[in-house]
Amino acid sequence: MAPYGDKARSHPDGIIDLSVGTPVDDTPQFIQDALVTSANSPRYPVTVGTPELRAAMRDWAINVLGVQGEFDVLPTIGSKELVALLPTILQSKKVLYPTVAYPTYLVGAEIAGAQSEPVDLDASRWPTADLVWVNSPSNPTGQVQNQSQLQAAIDYARRTGAIIASDECYLNFPAGDVQPISILKVAAGNNTGLIAVHSLSKRSNLAGYRAGIIVGDPKIIATILEVRKHSGLMVPLPVQRAQEALADVYERWGKVKKHENPEAYVMRVMVSKHADMRRKWLRKAQEKETSWDLAENIRNIADHSDDVAQRLLVQSALKSLTAMQRAVIVLSYEHGFVLREIAEILEIPMGTAASHLARGKAAVLAHLDLVPEFEKSVRKTLASPQTFLSEGSAEIVYGEVVDE
Ligand SMILES: Cc1ncc(COP(=O)(O)O)c(C=O)c1O
Repeated sequence: MAPYGDKARSHPDGIIDLSVGTPVDDTPQFIQDALVTSANSPRYPVTVGTPELRAAMRDWAINVLGVQGEFDVLPTIGSKELVALLPTILQSKKVLYPTVAYPTYLVGAEIAGAQSEPVDLDASRWPTADLVWVNSPSNPTGQVQNQSQLQAAIDYARRTGAIIASDECYLNFPAGDVQPISILKVAAGNNTGLIAVHSLSKRSNLAGYRAGIIVGDPKIIATILEVRKHSGLMVPLPVQRAQEALADVYERWGKVKKHENPEAYVMRVMVSKHADMRRKWLRKAQEKETSWDLAENIRNIADHSDDVAQRLLVQSALKSLTAMQRAVIVLSYEHGFVLREIAEILEIPMGTAASHLARGKAAVLAHLDLVPEFEKSVRKTLASPQTFLSEGSAEIVYGEVVDE
């Protein structure tokens, strides 16, 4: 295309650039801030995505794309690399792609040494293949496929066992009256053989960050993940953090857009989230260290004094809980409060108190695996409040509930 660009630029009235894919507005400030705040990133990021990002991607897939049934998610380094590498990763032999299309579908087939064939939208006429690209809204035509066209593509996949990769990078940009929908919404819970490819480049003005997402059939995503893990195709952690920030704000968008100073409001959300994450992370790191140290000591003294060892074991188990779980356990077992009273004291709903109690108990029991000798007796005391905790347990709790 470069020579044509040069020729157009030499025109007396200059070039009119009709390419649709390049964002021109600034990256929102809060995303820039999330990236900068995470700039200290000495460890390798995980290919599968941070837990926060994974949760955000799943929520987004369900609430925005309308995905149902079993599905998985995976962050990608923008979507172009995924488009180019997918036939290689899936070892596709024949790839179909739209007649007028984003060129990378063909490039990907060529990299994989696969056969390729351009096809029109009518899936009933598609020849046999093992990977088909669908792109709605389309770059460059802007064409949006309706529900029955997408259903026909799904039917083709069901009939032939081919994988349909639906490039939905422009889902937020309806070009006409037909509202674009994700192929995964049309699939209505049966995502077998389907993946949807999404990009944050265009919808959120961050093409320079390289951030994308795939959603769909967990088996296909597992194959893709395996190859990406071993070939270093992981999204840099600061970019994952920026993606999380985006998802956080998206969730609160209803409130954000009503605020008189949206930018300031978003900053407040980000600052408090970051402070919270840092606090939790620091505490977890400290607790882990303490609790493993204690467990190790217990192992050493278990032979000498069961009594002391059991008390230490309980303390170590308590330290492995979250502050809220610990508070609920101590209020229940040491002070004998019932759930209703615990909920009142901690100002949380009764259901939440009940789930902290259940999780706390489960975590304590899990902790016992470390010293199996005591498992039976603690299991028994866990069943009867007020016999399980030893003196001094309460102090471990109180300082931290306030903090939480
Ligand atoms: C249809 C289509 N898919 C995928 C991409 C890749 O976008 P990115 O790699 O920025 O996510 C583009 C970019 O222009 C596109 O037009």
